[in-house]
Amino acid sequence: MKFLGSGKVKDIYDIGNNELLFRFSDRISAFDIQFNDLIPQKGKILCKFSKFWFDKINYPNHLIRVKSDNEIIVKKLKMLPIECVVRGYFYGSIVSRYENKLIKIDQNNLKLASKLNTPIFDPTTKSHTDEPVSKTNIVKNNIDITSSIFDELSQASIQIYMQMSQIIDSVGFILADLKLEFGLFDDQIILADSIGPDECRLWSKKSYNVGNIQESFDKQILRDWLILHNYKQKFDLAKQHLIPPKVPKLPIQLINKIQNRYVRIYKQITKTVI
Ligand SMILES: Nc1ncnc2c1ncn2[C@@H]1O[C@H](COP(=O)(O)OP(=O)(O)OP(=O)(O)O)[C@@H](O)[C@H]1O
Ligand SMILES: [Mg+2]
Repeated sequence: MKFLGSGKVKDIYDIGNNELLFRFSDRISAFDIQFNDLIPQKGKILCKFSKFWFDKINYPNHLIRVKSDNEIIVKKLKMLPIECVVRGYFYGSIVSRYENKLIKIDQNNLKLASKLNTPIFDPTTKSHTDEPVSKTNIVKNNIDITSSIFDELSQASIQIYMQMSQIIDSVGFILADLKLEFGLFDDQIILADSIGPDECRLWSKKSYNVGNIQESFDKQILRDWLILHNYKQKFDLAKQHLIPPKVPKLPIQLINKIQNRYVRIYKQITKTVI
């Protein structure tokens, strides 16, 4: 088993035979800062979420089997180097791009968090900054992404967004946007990576309120705590001065609260207990 690398959440191993092992950790990050404290059960919940979504979504995916509570085995693919973002709501980075006339949306009276008439495929590069990219540029710069592959990624991503939205809507939430990754296996396009709260922006229908900033369901408690205790400001300053930020220790009450959020959202969406 060869260790390939660690992302913010997953550790990835090549286990031979064209298979990869994804191990979901309990690590947590916010504002691009990785904390030293762990959120109990988080890895297990993200692992089960991926299994749940791969089973529900009607599109070929890379999942081979679940190995343990927090590990899955997937088919090793040639990954397509874009992040397939779908936006169902006018929120996040699309707002300033729209205001700066960098993107056209054919809809009147758009307010922050308005529902879009039709979901938009809004892919980004896979670089650190995740820059939005046009079809022309993607096709020009990536030999693996032809015009017809691009169109398939766009259609598939929107369809998957709609399938997921329907399930999420039926349990009282809104899927505001979603990030997917795809790869190729023998020229077939396959849905890859992981799917869960870290890849979605989820809002509760009860607190949804057009025109306002929406509370995102998973990490908001942590973000709020960091802002309240001035850490957000300190992180920004450290970034400006290119020095490593001091990472605070998270209080146990906060860790418990975050854990409960993950447990609750898992129960509500999958209708099963963890
Ligand atoms: N089936 C697959 N075959 C090959 N590579 C895959 C497959 N599924 C996902 N990947 C790749 O594995 C990596 C998963 O990494 P991971 O998501 O843990 O961290 P990251 O993307 O580097 O950082 P972040 O924590 O910001 O997501 C990504 O580069 C993804 O494109
Ligand atoms: Mg990733």
